[in-house]
Amino acid sequence: MKKILFVTSEAHPLIKTGGLADVSGSLPKALAELSQDVRIIMPNYQTIKMQNEVRYLCTLRVENRDVNILETRMPDSNVIVWLVDFAEYFIRPGNPYVDEHGNSWPDNADRFALFCRIAVEVAMNRAYLQWMPDVVHCNDWQSGLVPALLSLESNRPSSVFTIHNLAYQGLFTAESIRGLNLPGQLWNPEGLEFYNMLSFIKGGLVYADKITTVSPNYALEIQTAAYGCGLEGLLRFRKDSLIGILNGIDQDVWNPAIDPSIAKHYGQKTLKDKQHNKSELQRRFGLPEDDKVPLLGLIGRLVEQKGIDLIIDCLPEMLSMSLQFVLLGSGDKDFEQRLQNLAHVYPDKMAVAQGYDEPLAHLIEAGADIFLMPSRFEPCGLNQMYSQRYGTLPIVRNTGGLSDTVVDVLPETLANRTATGFVFNDANASSLLETVKRAVMLYSDRKAWTSVQSNAMGKDFSWLKSAEQYLALYESL
Ligand code: ADP
Ligand code: GLC
Repeated sequence: MKKILFVTSEAHPLIKTGGLADVSGSLPKALAELSQDVRIIMPNYQTIKMQNEVRYLCTLRVENRDVNILETRMPDSNVIVWLVDFAEYFIRPGNPYVDEHGNSWPDNADRFALFCRIAVEVAMNRAYLQWMPDVVHCNDWQSGLVPALLSLESNRPSSVFTIHNLAYQGLFTAESIRGLNLPGQLWNPEGLEFYNMLSFIKGGLVYADKITTVSPNYALEIQTAAYGCGLEGLLRFRKDSLIGILNGIDQDVWNPAIDPSIAKHYGQKTLKDKQHNKSELQRRFGLPEDDKVPLLGLIGRLVEQKGIDLIIDCLPEMLSMSLQFVLLGSGDKDFEQRLQNLAHVYPDKMAVAQGYDEPLAHLIEAGADIFLMPSRFEPCGLNQMYSQRYGTLPIVRNTGGLSDTVVDVLPETLANRTATGFVFNDANASSLLETVKRAVMLYSDRKAWTSVQSNAMGKDFSWLKSAEQYLALYESL
């Protein structure tokens, strides 16, 4: 049995801004089911939805600050969660990284550096918790300083760093980091320095014993200039320590047979009941109730990564076809505005829900026929897997984890029953539009459509296989 300290800045259902939270909520649970002793450490934000009892454990004095460690448990798995409690940094409105207006908190470097220092104290068993991990598993830039600081310790646990998204690197100017008091030997171009800036993510990429990312394909892509965000050289240098492990999904949370947020439960054998969710979705979005018209859905952060501009560019032509489109998301203000404008022009065909709404996300997965995910890059992507499980066929671009999880509808994949969605190559509006036409055409062939739905719903995206791969990795350290 391995003792694993899982360091993350968000975990569903306590707090979530994106897929990192889904993974942090479900991978530790899957590891616990494999009889591992895994504990999560994360900041104690004001907006955490605490469900279980919280108790005070201790106070640590770090960098002249008194920081409390609290303990609770994950609601649906009993995995222990240690909360790093420092009110001045974490008790504020907004989300973990940005204020109500979407601007990064100006002291993010201080906030996450303190979080990392506390994680190191816990990892080194200096926090009076009588527990020392074998492996410290860090996730994304917010935890990047942990492997760097640990590298200076003797008798330290091994470290793993998972890249969920290389585009977010935690870069800070030299002035903003003066107060951090980082050990001088970490500050050089082979260390934490990135063109005179402090790079939190380099702390993971340079110093972790092993690096993972969330799909095999993205592990290859990030070693190239097109996807490496300036870090491709370092990643090529470390390629023997870099591995891609595909994310799983929590099949209890994303299961149309028991999902409490949808209008009517259904499964592979009761696919016709999916229809009730479509009607409910059309009602909720104020679109004409029509079971024949293909309904497209999208849920996500409205940022360039997700190819939102490609959708906006082809929407007028797309909406001239017989289809409907619903979208739930928030992000870039310009994208939000342009999507709202289009929804006003086509009120019978398109509707937008701005914001973050977990139950509505479930209803869209259940009610839509087709899910749009034309990402420019996608480390793994979860929604295309949720969609397949809900018999909602995804349209994805051939990139990252999307390529690893969706099988394009082609004559041979239809025949051998492996087709699960629609894949296109070029990141431009006309390729997307062609693929939407292809999907709509197949939709009119009910027999072929239900056959692909059934392939998609039958796929195994559970965590077990991936959790076993993580475990093998921990054991190799
Ligand atoms: P990323 O982590 O890049 O945002 P993923 O596909 O890995 O992309 O995960 C996104 C997760 O966040 C999914 O669980 C998705 O349903 C959820 N999500 C994104 N935007 C919203 C929203 N506006 N409302 C509800 N859930 C959302
Ligand atoms: C990131 C990526 C997404 C991935 C998620 C969880 O936010 O953008 O592709 O699925 O992390 O690993």
